[in-house]
Amino acid sequence: MTPRSGLKAALLLLSASLSSTALAQAQRAQEVSGPASAGTKNPDARARATEKAMTEEERYRYLDSPMALDLPGLAQVPEGAHPAVGYVPPIPRLGLPALYETDASLGVTNPSEVRKGDWSTALPASISLASTFSPELAERGGAVVGQEARAKGFNIVLGGGSNLIREPRNGRNFEYLSEDPLLTGLMAAGSIRGIQSQKVVSTVKHMALNAQETLRMTLDAHIAEPALRESDLLAFQIAIERSAPGAVMCGYNLVNGQYDCENEFLLNTVLKEDWGYKGWVMSDWGAVHSLQSVVNGMDQQSGSQLDPDVYVGAPLREAVAEGRIPKARVSEAVRRILRSVYAVGADAPFTSEPAPIDYAAHAKVAREAGTAGIVLLKNAEDILPLAASAKSIAVIGGHADMGVMTGGGSSQVTPEGEVATLPIGGRESWGGWAKAVYFPSSPLKALKEALPDTQVEFDSGYYHQSAASFAARKEIAIVFVTAWSGEALDGSLTLPEGQDALIEAVAAANPNTVVVIQSGNPIKMPWLDKVKGVIEAWYPGQEGGAAIADILTGKANPSGHLPVTFPRDESQLVRPEIPGLGEPEGTRLVVEYTEGADVGYRWYAAKDLSPLFPFGHGLSYTRFAHEDLRVNAAPGNAPTASVSVRNTGAKAGTDVVQLYLTSGPKGATRRLVGFQRVDLAPGEARKVEITLDPRLLANWQDGAFVQAAGRYTFAAGHSAQDLGAPVKVTLKERSFGR
Ligand code: BGC
Repeated sequence: MTPRSGLKAALLLLSASLSSTALAQAQRAQEVSGPASAGTKNPDARARATEKAMTEEERYRYLDSPMALDLPGLAQVPEGAHPAVGYVPPIPRLGLPALYETDASLGVTNPSEVRKGDWSTALPASISLASTFSPELAERGGAVVGQEARAKGFNIVLGGGSNLIREPRNGRNFEYLSEDPLLTGLMAAGSIRGIQSQKVVSTVKHMALNAQETLRMTLDAHIAEPALRESDLLAFQIAIERSAPGAVMCGYNLVNGQYDCENEFLLNTVLKEDWGYKGWVMSDWGAVHSLQSVVNGMDQQSGSQLDPDVYVGAPLREAVAEGRIPKARVSEAVRRILRSVYAVGADAPFTSEPAPIDYAAHAKVAREAGTAGIVLLKNAEDILPLAASAKSIAVIGGHADMGVMTGGGSSQVTPEGEVATLPIGGRESWGGWAKAVYFPSSPLKALKEALPDTQVEFDSGYYHQSAASFAARKEIAIVFVTAWSGEALDGSLTLPEGQDALIEAVAAANPNTVVVIQSGNPIKMPWLDKVKGVIEAWYPGQEGGAAIADILTGKANPSGHLPVTFPRDESQLVRPEIPGLGEPEGTRLVVEYTEGADVGYRWYAAKDLSPLFPFGHGLSYTRFAHEDLRVNAAPGNAPTASVSVRNTGAKAGTDVVQLYLTSGPKGATRRLVGFQRVDLAPGEARKVEITLDPRLLANWQDGAFVQAAGRYTFAAGHSAQDLGAPVKVTLKERSFGR
């Protein structure tokens, strides 16, 4: 194992005989004396006082959060502690509990079952959550994760994955939110607020431009500052402003020649100076290469066993003793950690008995989110919802008899019940994560229950010919297809395992074919014209089977909208081939992000490309009309917009009104500047008000966001390419600082 191959390599070493400390015992051991946290009361003063009272030893120890996992020859769980992916020992005399870190945004993970028999609520993938366009739902999901984390003895969640989706084949897109900075920032903020509402610190990660998994440790992302400020950094900026995450995790890759975790520009200049960020910067696991990290803004080294050295230990002490690094820098880093711990209330003692978890209530949130995240992409001849009068339905493929797919890697959650795992194969270095996991929530079973008067039968789809003849004998055929993705490996736009051919065969046999996709990424659909219905269910979480059945049967009206563009094929991508694919780990690679801030749908608009499905697209079983868009620009204030939304169909439903900027004084553009989810009864109309973030109208210029004077055109849309009548306003020049 190379020291830099990250957490995944470390987890491979986890032996089956892990001696995990009993949770309740560990929680008792970490109980601290001292006052319970006042939560948000003057965290700066408290941090100053505590840091001052610390010994030198305690200060340095606070900057190191090694893995507390039994990894033979690499790491072990300290006496009296319980397993955690990152751990800082308690300081009882100062009322400081241990810091226990766990992954991640989709639920509390249990890597290699370090907590024997423990499971957690598995929420849908983040890309599914973003499809809801509902920061409120994200917040409720975050609260589920935060509450379970605390009950299981954790006070830090490594959530808030906010990298912009620049590469639709990135293996971690299911952990990220979208290709748009506003949507990503607002959704991440919701999730972080939810986690932190439970006195658990959340991170936002991985800052920045960790846009692909191929060569993630050595890829040097080159991009011009204005473009970076207007895209990836803006997503982080919005998330941070709206949720004050306790920590920011810096990524593995390099940006403009410097590793993320020693990137002076990203960490010191942008994050700490320009944005005035008050929390701490923690490294990703195995992302620290030198002491320069501490100089350039990293405050805490995570999973230090994976780095060449514990830089925040002896090397830092030596540098301070020799005057190469000021002592004040150590104090400042410690204060930043303490400040966040106090601000969030993460120093609240754990209870001596594990707090009860209302798993039934949490399952409801998982189901609601899973359902709201499903996107109805195509519905020709209103093939959906399935008629209760349908006599027979063929359910084919995708292991729909067994459950629903989940993505792999450090964010993978283990829910209740028996999960099924299938080996993926492929690269040896991929090791222990090379398995597709299916949560035990069978869409087939849910459909059978929902349609008691219909004959619903299953065929595995392994043999296309027999699947086709099976389909030919039924009124409707539903083909389930799955595309696995996971950390440390990029995927493909092509469905694996011949599933395209399966769909072709079934569609040729039955004209009433519907396809249900479970994927973490966009996929190509060479068969699109041959099927009547298509649903993107993403990785829909532990209640995914029921969520899919609710949508198919119309118990729930689809309301998800794509947070990423679905390309027709690779030729439409900025980089048709994934840079560095096939090169050995460790290869240094410069990637020029020449598209700049024109990420996703902005690229399609700029190049006048027509994708397979545009960003923002999502059908419903009813119809919505947008009327009377107005944009008001009171001088000196952020513009506001209002639009009336009407449900013109016969069913209750939920629309997502999207407001786009389509041109400005510098010419044509396409930017999502606001959105709102709105529930409407049949015939009902509501006026939606949106306040525009002025940075979305501006460009980064000479050290500030500047809105040029001139004419701006807006349109309300059902997607980034399906826009209503334009509305023009004239705006004055304004500068918005950093
Ligand atoms: C991932 C992080 C994760 C960390 C700890 C790393 O491999 O990139 O997202 O939080 O491991 O598990």
